[in-house]
Amino acid sequence: MNRSLSRRLPFTGYAILLAVSWLLTIACASDAPIDTKPYPVEQQYMATPMPDRIILTMSGDPARSVDVTWRTNVTGAPAFLEWVQSDTLVGDLRKLELEPSHRLPATTEMFHSDLGLCRIHTVHLAGLEPATKYVYRVGDGVNWSEWFQFGTAHDRPAPFSFIYLGDGQNAIRSWWSHVVRQAHQEAPRAAFVLHAGDLVNGANNDAEWGEWFEAGGWLNAMAPVVATPGNHDHPDGSLCRHWRPQFAFPTNGPKGLEETTYWFDYQGVRIVSVNSYERLEEQAVWLDRILSKCPASQWKIVTLHYPLFSAAKGRDNPQLRKILQPVFVRHHVDLVLQGHDHAYARTGLGGPHNVADGVNLNQGGTVYVVSVSGAKMYEANETWNVSRVGTGIQLYQVIHIDGNRLEYESRRATGELYDAFTLTKNEDGHTQIMERIPDRPEIRH
Ligand SMILES: [Fe+2]
Repeated sequence: MNRSLSRRLPFTGYAILLAVSWLLTIACASDAPIDTKPYPVEQQYMATPMPDRIILTMSGDPARSVDVTWRTNVTGAPAFLEWVQSDTLVGDLRKLELEPSHRLPATTEMFHSDLGLCRIHTVHLAGLEPATKYVYRVGDGVNWSEWFQFGTAHDRPAPFSFIYLGDGQNAIRSWWSHVVRQAHQEAPRAAFVLHAGDLVNGANNDAEWGEWFEAGGWLNAMAPVVATPGNHDHPDGSLCRHWRPQFAFPTNGPKGLEETTYWFDYQGVRIVSVNSYERLEEQAVWLDRILSKCPASQWKIVTLHYPLFSAAKGRDNPQLRKILQPVFVRHHVDLVLQGHDHAYARTGLGGPHNVADGVNLNQGGTVYVVSVSGAKMYEANETWNVSRVGTGIQLYQVIHIDGNRLEYESRRATGELYDAFTLTKNEDGHTQIMERIPDRPEIRH
């Protein structure tokens, strides 16, 4: 045996040993029971000293105030919000020690969910300048969130866009999240994100809200959320326990319906949430009064969960139509944004016609939309003839208002345009619609 061969042999033996051992490991591993267990939701969605579920809402004048809500665990640590105009802070870390006037204590409440105890904190940040960018962070003085940026509204009519989403509700983390992200990519400077009810399925289940906040992520902390409650947000017949602590919506609705029935003006547009789950007659009177104060030429958008013209098979809400439609007609409500039916339907030119007798029920020129952003899907209705229908597709909508023009687009989760129209509004409050439906067949899965 020559010397080089004698040197190689031990190495060759070692390599063979390694290979055999590796093969044995693979063989044993494939036979071994898989020890993969679901990660417990108690741990996955447990509150910690680090602020989470941070969300912006607008309980007051959006040009001069904003509300920030977040969650922590139940240590006795204080809860603060620090804020400053963006150009004061950005790019200069030496200025992180803020003046005392830029630190606000939160209002804190203990919250007992099905997964345990936590604290929910809210700060109403007022006295802001219109059309100005700010940054803020929340925390206990040691454990801080990152700095989030947001902008106040103009204090007069000015162009803006917002995102409207139908029911998220199901498979929120796995299937709804990508719709939220695509909508953000489509309209990154959206003034707010409007949810038309049934945000989650079991609204007293903390893990579902955990998924909802996870899907919204940092977007919730920089673009205010607007939401109207649906039937699933009323488990056991009453508003879910999470709603009022975790959202700071306006309290200008009828007594007892605060933060579910409310209105606000955003750059000249009146946005109203109607709680379609309860006390409809009373809300119709309230809505009549609220809209009486708007000039006819002002854009008026109403959101409610149950639709006046249902999109899904076997569903109809004649009582809702009877109570609310006369108010919408009287005050030239331009757009009604709804959910509930897990399908898409949008009225427009010549509709909705009742399929059975051909009667056009679209008095007043209001455009009614039902849409769905989540993954639960129902079959299409056959009661109404409307401009555009879709089933089996997750959608998001971007609405842009500029002067007397309103541009509406509905897109699939892929970003592909599915429906569009333009409204122009005259001084009398009447609108004209220009259909811009893409030249693609309707999707009905
Ligand atoms: Fe619903």
